[in-house]
Amino acid sequence: MSDLKKIKDDFLLKLEKKLSLADINEIKTNLFGKNGLISSQFKKIGSISESEKRKFASELNLIKNELQNKINSKINEIQSEEINKKLEKENVDITLPERTFVQGKIHPVSQTIDEISSIFSEIGFSVEEGPDVENEYNNFTALNTPDNHPARDMHDTFYLDEKKEKLLRTHTSPVQIRTMLKDKPPFKIIAPGRTYRSDSDQTHSPMFHQVEGLHIDKNITMGHLKGCLNYFIKEFFEVKKIKMRFRPSHFPFTEPSAEVDIGYEIKDGKMVIGEGDKWLEILGCGMVHPNVLKNVKVDSSNYQGYAFGIGIDRLAMLKYGINDLRAFFDCDYRWLNHFGFDPLDVPTNYRGLSR
Ligand code: PHE
Repeated sequence: MSDLKKIKDDFLLKLEKKLSLADINEIKTNLFGKNGLISSQFKKIGSISESEKRKFASELNLIKNELQNKINSKINEIQSEEINKKLEKENVDITLPERTFVQGKIHPVSQTIDEISSIFSEIGFSVEEGPDVENEYNNFTALNTPDNHPARDMHDTFYLDEKKEKLLRTHTSPVQIRTMLKDKPPFKIIAPGRTYRSDSDQTHSPMFHQVEGLHIDKNITMGHLKGCLNYFIKEFFEVKKIKMRFRPSHFPFTEPSAEVDIGYEIKDGKMVIGEGDKWLEILGCGMVHPNVLKNVKVDSSNYQGYAFGIGIDRLAMLKYGINDLRAFFDCDYRWLNHFGFDPLDVPTNYRGLSR
Protein backbone atom coordinates (compact mmCIF):
# COMPACT_ATOMS: atom_id res chain seq x y z
CA MET A 1 0.00 0.00 0.00
CA SER A 2 1.35 3.42 -0.85
CA ASP A 3 2.14 5.84 1.95
CA LEU A 4 -0.70 8.04 0.86
CA LYS A 5 -3.28 5.31 0.95
CA LYS A 6 -2.07 4.27 4.37
CA ILE A 7 -2.39 7.77 5.78
CA LYS A 8 -5.85 8.03 4.34
CA ASP A 9 -7.10 4.72 5.69
CA ASP A 10 -5.54 5.25 9.12
CA PHE A 11 -7.08 8.62 9.56
CA LEU A 12 -10.47 7.80 8.15
CA LEU A 13 -10.60 5.05 10.69
CA LYS A 14 -9.59 7.40 13.50
CA LEU A 15 -12.27 9.83 12.41
CA GLU A 16 -14.92 7.16 12.73
CA LYS A 17 -14.38 6.97 16.47
CA LYS A 18 -16.05 9.04 19.12
CA LEU A 19 -14.06 12.23 19.26
CA SER A 20 -14.04 15.56 21.03
CA LEU A 21 -13.26 18.89 19.38
CA ALA A 22 -9.85 18.73 21.01
CA ASP A 23 -9.21 15.29 19.41
CA ILE A 24 -10.17 16.67 16.02
CA ASN A 25 -7.80 19.58 16.44
CA GLU A 26 -5.02 17.17 17.22
CA ILE A 27 -5.78 15.16 14.08
CA LYS A 28 -5.79 18.35 12.07
CA THR A 29 -2.33 19.25 13.32
CA ASN A 30 -1.06 15.76 12.68
CA LEU A 31 -2.21 15.96 9.09
CA PHE A 32 -2.02 19.55 8.02
CA GLY A 33 0.27 21.19 10.59
CA LYS A 34 3.68 22.47 9.58
CA ASN A 35 5.19 19.05 9.88
CA GLY A 36 1.94 17.15 9.43
CA LEU A 37 1.77 13.97 7.40
CA ILE A 38 -0.05 15.53 4.45
CA SER A 39 2.03 18.69 4.53
CA SER A 40 5.25 16.66 4.34
CA GLN A 41 3.87 14.70 1.39
CA PHE A 42 3.42 18.01 -0.44
CA LYS A 43 7.02 18.89 0.28
CA LYS A 44 8.02 15.61 -1.39
CA ILE A 45 6.56 16.60 -4.78
CA GLY A 46 9.68 18.55 -5.75
CA SER A 47 11.91 15.48 -5.49
CA ILE A 48 9.70 13.07 -7.44
CA SER A 49 10.58 12.17 -11.00
CA GLU A 50 8.66 14.05 -13.71
CA SER A 51 6.80 10.94 -14.84
CA GLU A 52 5.40 10.20 -11.35
CA LYS A 53 4.80 13.78 -10.29
CA ARG A 54 1.41 14.38 -11.91
CA LYS A 55 -0.15 11.17 -10.66
CA PHE A 56 1.22 11.63 -7.15
CA ALA A 57 0.09 15.24 -6.91
CA SER A 58 -3.43 14.51 -8.01
CA GLU A 59 -3.75 11.55 -5.66
CA LEU A 60 -2.40 13.67 -2.81
CA ASN A 61 -4.91 16.43 -3.53
CA LEU A 62 -7.80 13.97 -3.60
CA ILE A 63 -6.77 12.46 -0.29
CA LYS A 64 -6.23 15.87 1.26
CA ASN A 65 -9.73 16.93 0.21
CA GLU A 66 -11.31 13.75 1.38
CA LEU A 67 -9.72 14.03 4.81
CA GLN A 68 -10.59 17.69 5.10
CA ASN A 69 -14.23 17.04 4.23
CA LYS A 70 -14.40 14.26 6.71
CA ILE A 71 -12.92 16.50 9.41
CA ASN A 72 -15.39 19.28 8.66
CA SER A 73 -18.40 17.03 8.79
CA LYS A 74 -17.11 15.54 12.04
CA ILE A 75 -16.82 19.04 13.52
CA ASN A 76 -20.40 19.84 12.48
CA GLU A 77 -21.56 16.61 13.99
CA ILE A 78 -19.88 17.32 17.32
CA GLN A 79 -21.19 20.88 17.45
CA SER A 80 -24.78 19.95 16.77
CA GLU A 81 -24.53 17.18 19.33
CA GLU A 82 -23.39 19.74 21.89
CA ILE A 83 -26.26 22.05 21.03
CA ASN A 84 -28.76 19.23 21.35
CA LYS A 85 -27.35 18.26 24.71
CA LYS A 86 -27.62 21.86 25.88
CA LEU A 87 -31.19 22.13 24.65
CA GLU A 88 -32.13 19.00 26.53
CA LYS A 89 -30.64 20.34 29.73
CA GLU A 90 -31.77 23.95 29.48
CA ASN A 91 -35.31 23.49 28.27
CA VAL A 92 -37.72 26.45 28.47
CA ASP A 93 -40.89 26.00 30.43
CA ILE A 94 -43.42 27.62 28.12
CA THR A 95 -46.19 27.11 30.67
CA LEU A 96 -44.68 29.69 33.04
CA PRO A 97 -46.62 32.98 33.25
CA GLU A 98 -45.08 35.87 31.30
CA ARG A 99 -43.15 38.53 33.17
CA THR A 100 -45.28 41.59 33.91
CA PHE A 101 -44.71 44.45 31.50
CA VAL A 102 -45.58 47.90 32.78
CA GLN A 103 -46.15 50.65 30.28
CA GLY A 104 -46.35 54.24 31.46
CA LYS A 105 -49.38 56.36 30.58
CA ILE A 106 -49.68 60.06 29.88
CA HIS A 107 -51.83 61.77 32.53
CA PRO A 108 -55.06 63.27 31.09
CA VAL A 109 -54.02 66.73 32.34
CA SER A 110 -50.66 66.53 30.54
CA GLN A 111 -52.43 65.27 27.46
CA THR A 112 -54.92 68.14 27.60
CA ILE A 113 -52.14 70.72 28.05
CA ASP A 114 -50.43 69.26 24.98
CA GLU A 115 -53.62 69.49 22.94
CA ILE A 116 -54.32 73.07 24.08
CA SER A 117 -50.76 74.17 23.31
CA SER A 118 -50.93 72.54 19.88
CA ILE A 119 -54.18 74.23 18.94
CA PHE A 120 -53.08 77.71 20.04
CA SER A 121 -49.65 77.38 18.52
CA GLU A 122 -51.27 76.78 15.15
CA ILE A 123 -52.87 80.21 15.31
CA GLY A 124 -49.69 82.00 16.30
CA PHE A 125 -49.53 81.81 20.09
CA SER A 126 -46.26 80.90 21.73
CA VAL A 127 -46.03 79.14 25.07
CA GLU A 128 -44.75 80.97 28.17
CA GLU A 129 -44.14 79.70 31.66
CA GLY A 130 -44.01 81.25 35.10
CA PRO A 131 -43.17 79.97 38.58
CA ASP A 132 -45.70 78.43 40.98
CA VAL A 133 -44.29 80.55 43.81
CA GLU A 134 -45.12 84.13 42.93
CA ASN A 135 -44.77 87.48 44.56
CA GLU A 136 -47.76 89.45 45.65
CA TYR A 137 -47.07 92.15 43.07
CA ASN A 138 -47.28 89.93 39.97
CA ASN A 139 -50.20 87.91 41.29
CA PHE A 140 -52.34 90.86 42.45
CA THR A 141 -51.07 94.43 42.45
CA ALA A 142 -49.81 94.60 38.88
CA LEU A 143 -53.07 92.96 37.82
CA ASN A 144 -55.02 95.93 39.14
CA THR A 145 -56.22 93.98 42.18
CA PRO A 146 -56.20 96.41 45.08
CA ASP A 147 -55.25 95.48 48.63
CA ASN A 148 -58.81 95.16 49.84
CA HIS A 149 -60.01 92.88 47.01
CA PRO A 150 -61.75 89.70 48.23
CA ALA A 151 -59.47 87.53 46.03
CA ARG A 152 -56.67 88.43 48.42
CA ASP A 153 -58.51 86.96 51.34
CA MET A 154 -56.54 84.44 53.40
CA HIS A 155 -59.18 81.81 52.64
CA ASP A 156 -58.35 81.74 48.98
CA THR A 157 -54.66 82.37 48.86
CA PHE A 158 -51.84 80.24 50.20
CA TYR A 159 -49.38 82.80 51.53
CA LEU A 160 -45.87 81.60 52.17
CA ASP A 161 -44.69 84.28 54.60
CA GLU A 162 -46.06 86.47 57.35
CA LYS A 163 -45.71 89.63 55.33
CA LYS A 164 -47.81 88.07 52.56
CA GLU A 165 -45.21 88.91 49.96
CA LYS A 166 -44.72 85.38 48.66
CA LEU A 167 -47.59 83.12 47.71
CA LEU A 168 -48.60 80.17 45.54
CA ARG A 169 -50.04 81.79 42.45
CA THR A 170 -53.83 81.78 42.51
CA HIS A 171 -54.09 81.99 38.72
CA THR A 172 -51.84 81.99 35.65
CA SER A 173 -52.46 85.72 35.07
CA PRO A 174 -49.11 86.77 36.66
CA VAL A 175 -47.48 85.25 33.56
CA GLN A 176 -49.14 88.12 31.62
CA ILE A 177 -47.18 90.54 33.79
CA ARG A 178 -43.90 88.61 33.51
CA THR A 179 -44.22 88.37 29.74
CA MET A 180 -45.01 92.05 29.20
CA LEU A 181 -42.26 93.18 31.58
CA LYS A 182 -39.55 91.23 29.79
CA ASP A 183 -40.50 92.05 26.18
CA LYS A 184 -41.96 94.71 23.94
CA PRO A 185 -45.44 94.45 22.34
CA PRO A 186 -46.98 92.81 20.35
CA PHE A 187 -47.64 89.81 22.63
CA LYS A 188 -49.42 86.63 21.66
CA ILE A 189 -48.87 83.96 24.27
CA ILE A 190 -50.52 81.21 26.23
CA ALA A 191 -49.26 80.08 29.63
CA PRO A 192 -50.43 76.71 30.95
CA GLY A 193 -49.53 75.66 34.48
CA ARG A 194 -50.38 74.83 38.06
CA THR A 195 -52.40 77.20 40.21
CA TYR A 196 -53.43 77.06 43.88
CA ARG A 197 -56.38 78.09 46.01
CA SER A 198 -57.45 77.05 49.46
CA ASP A 199 -60.51 75.12 48.35
CA SER A 200 -61.39 71.42 48.18
CA ASP A 201 -64.50 69.47 47.16
CA GLN A 202 -65.68 67.32 44.26
CA THR A 203 -65.15 70.13 41.74
CA HIS A 204 -62.36 72.06 43.49
CA SER A 205 -58.87 70.97 44.32
CA PRO A 206 -56.31 73.14 46.20
CA MET A 207 -53.99 72.61 43.24
CA PHE A 208 -55.45 72.84 39.77
CA HIS A 209 -54.44 73.90 36.26
CA GLN A 210 -55.15 76.93 34.13
CA VAL A 211 -54.06 78.18 30.77
CA GLU A 212 -53.68 81.90 30.40
CA GLY A 213 -54.00 83.63 27.03
CA LEU A 214 -52.79 87.11 26.17
CA HIS A 215 -52.94 88.89 22.84
CA ILE A 216 -51.80 92.53 22.71
CA ASP A 217 -51.31 94.40 19.48
CA LYS A 218 -52.56 97.48 17.68
CA ASN A 219 -56.32 97.31 16.96
CA ILE A 220 -57.13 94.08 18.78
CA THR A 221 -60.82 94.02 19.68
CA MET A 222 -63.31 91.86 21.53
CA GLY A 223 -64.20 90.42 18.12
CA HIS A 224 -60.75 88.83 17.98
CA LEU A 225 -61.26 87.42 21.47
CA LYS A 226 -64.56 85.82 20.47
CA GLY A 227 -63.17 84.44 17.23
CA CYS A 228 -60.13 83.01 18.94
CA LEU A 229 -62.06 81.29 21.74
CA ASN A 230 -64.69 79.99 19.36
CA TYR A 231 -61.99 78.47 17.17
CA PHE A 232 -60.22 76.93 20.16
CA ILE A 233 -63.32 75.35 21.67
CA LYS A 234 -64.35 73.79 18.35
CA GLU A 235 -60.89 72.40 17.75
CA PHE A 236 -60.54 71.13 21.29
CA PHE A 237 -63.85 69.32 21.43
CA GLU A 238 -63.57 68.30 17.77
CA VAL A 239 -67.00 69.67 16.85
CA LYS A 240 -68.06 71.70 13.80
CA LYS A 241 -70.48 73.96 15.64
CA ILE A 242 -70.41 75.25 19.17
CA LYS A 243 -72.92 77.22 21.18
CA MET A 244 -71.11 79.88 23.20
CA ARG A 245 -72.38 82.52 25.58
CA PHE A 246 -70.41 85.54 26.78
CA ARG A 247 -71.82 86.54 30.16
CA PRO A 248 -70.84 89.95 31.61
CA SER A 249 -68.59 89.46 34.62
CA HIS A 250 -65.91 91.21 36.61
CA PHE A 251 -62.16 90.76 36.89
CA PRO A 252 -59.99 93.61 38.17
CA PHE A 253 -57.52 93.13 35.30
CA THR A 254 -59.97 93.20 32.38
CA GLU A 255 -62.58 95.70 31.27
CA PRO A 256 -65.04 94.72 29.95
CA SER A 257 -64.92 91.22 31.43
CA ALA A 258 -66.89 88.13 30.58
CA GLU A 259 -67.33 84.54 31.56
CA VAL A 260 -67.86 82.09 28.76
CA ASP A 261 -70.33 79.23 28.85
CA ILE A 262 -70.65 76.50 26.25
CA GLY A 263 -73.88 74.73 25.34
CA TYR A 264 -74.39 71.04 26.01
CA GLU A 265 -77.07 68.42 26.36
CA ILE A 266 -77.30 65.00 27.93
CA LYS A 267 -77.90 62.25 25.39
CA ASP A 268 -78.17 58.61 26.52
CA GLY A 269 -76.65 59.58 29.84
CA LYS A 270 -73.68 61.21 28.13
CA MET A 271 -72.74 64.86 27.91
CA VAL A 272 -72.75 66.14 24.32
CA ILE A 273 -70.85 69.39 23.84
CA GLY A 274 -71.94 72.02 21.35
CA GLU A 275 -75.72 71.72 21.17
CA GLY A 276 -78.59 71.66 23.66
CA ASP A 277 -80.03 74.14 26.12
CA LYS A 278 -77.79 73.62 29.11
CA TRP A 279 -74.82 75.90 29.85
CA LEU A 280 -71.47 75.17 31.37
CA GLU A 281 -68.95 77.80 32.46
CA ILE A 282 -65.45 77.12 31.19
CA LEU A 283 -63.41 80.31 31.26
CA GLY A 284 -62.97 83.95 32.22
CA CYS A 285 -61.81 86.61 29.82
CA GLY A 286 -61.90 90.25 28.82
CA MET A 287 -60.05 93.20 27.33
CA VAL A 288 -56.85 93.90 29.28
CA HIS A 289 -57.41 96.83 31.67
CA PRO A 290 -55.43 100.00 30.80
CA ASN A 291 -54.08 100.04 34.39
CA VAL A 292 -52.45 96.64 33.79
CA LEU A 293 -50.84 97.92 30.61
CA LYS A 294 -49.64 101.01 32.48
CA ASN A 295 -48.07 98.82 35.20
CA VAL A 296 -45.99 97.00 32.61
CA LYS A 297 -45.13 100.16 30.64
CA VAL A 298 -47.17 99.34 27.57
CA ASP A 299 -48.69 102.43 25.95
CA SER A 300 -52.42 101.73 26.11
CA SER A 301 -53.25 104.48 23.64
CA ASN A 302 -51.36 102.50 21.04
CA TYR A 303 -51.69 98.90 22.16
CA GLN A 304 -54.61 96.93 23.49
CA GLY A 305 -55.84 93.38 23.55
CA TYR A 306 -57.55 90.55 25.30
CA ALA A 307 -56.73 87.95 27.92
CA PHE A 308 -58.42 84.76 29.02
CA GLY A 309 -57.97 82.11 31.67
CA ILE A 310 -59.28 78.59 31.06
CA GLY A 311 -59.61 75.83 33.64
CA ILE A 312 -57.65 72.95 32.15
CA ASP A 313 -58.88 70.23 34.51
CA ARG A 314 -62.48 71.13 33.69
CA LEU A 315 -61.79 70.78 29.97
CA ALA A 316 -60.10 67.43 30.51
CA MET A 317 -63.02 66.18 32.61
CA LEU A 318 -65.50 67.19 29.92
CA LYS A 319 -63.59 65.82 26.98
CA TYR A 320 -62.58 62.53 28.54
CA GLY A 321 -65.67 61.83 30.67
CA ILE A 322 -64.04 62.05 34.08
CA ASN A 323 -66.46 63.12 36.79
CA ASP A 324 -64.40 63.60 39.94
CA LEU A 325 -61.68 66.24 39.82
CA ARG A 326 -59.94 64.82 42.88
CA ALA A 327 -59.11 61.59 41.02
CA PHE A 328 -56.70 63.62 38.86
CA PHE A 329 -54.42 64.14 41.81
CA ASP A 330 -54.87 60.92 43.81
CA CYS A 331 -51.98 59.22 42.01
CA ASP A 332 -53.96 55.98 41.81
CA TYR A 333 -52.09 53.82 39.35
CA ARG A 334 -55.24 51.88 38.32
CA TRP A 335 -57.04 55.14 37.54
CA LEU A 336 -54.15 56.40 35.45
CA ASN A 337 -54.01 53.12 33.62
CA HIS A 338 -57.66 53.52 32.69
CA PHE A 339 -57.84 57.22 31.87
CA GLY A 340 -54.23 57.81 30.82
CA PHE A 341 -53.00 57.89 27.23
CA ASP A 342 -50.74 55.48 25.47
CA PRO A 343 -47.65 57.53 24.55
CA LEU A 344 -47.54 55.82 21.17
CA ASP A 345 -51.21 56.15 20.37
CA VAL A 346 -52.38 59.67 21.17
CA PRO A 347 -55.79 61.07 20.16
CA THR A 348 -56.48 62.51 16.72
CA ASN A 349 -56.25 66.22 17.40
CA TYR A 350 -52.87 65.94 19.07
CA ARG A 351 -50.49 67.77 16.77
CA GLY A 352 -47.22 66.55 18.14
CA LEU A 353 -46.10 69.41 20.35
CA SER A 354 -43.90 68.15 23.16
CA ARG A 355 -44.32 69.05 26.77
N1 PHE B 1 -57.40 84.86 36.19
C1 PHE B 1 -58.82 84.69 36.11
C2 PHE B 1 -59.24 83.60 37.09
O1 PHE B 1 -58.39 82.87 37.56
C3 PHE B 1 -59.25 84.30 34.71
C4 PHE B 1 -59.01 85.39 33.72
C5 PHE B 1 -57.82 85.44 33.03
C6 PHE B 1 -59.99 86.34 33.47
C7 PHE B 1 -57.60 86.46 32.09
C8 PHE B 1 -59.77 87.35 32.55
C9 PHE B 1 -58.59 87.38 31.86
O2 PHE B 1 -60.39 83.43 37.38
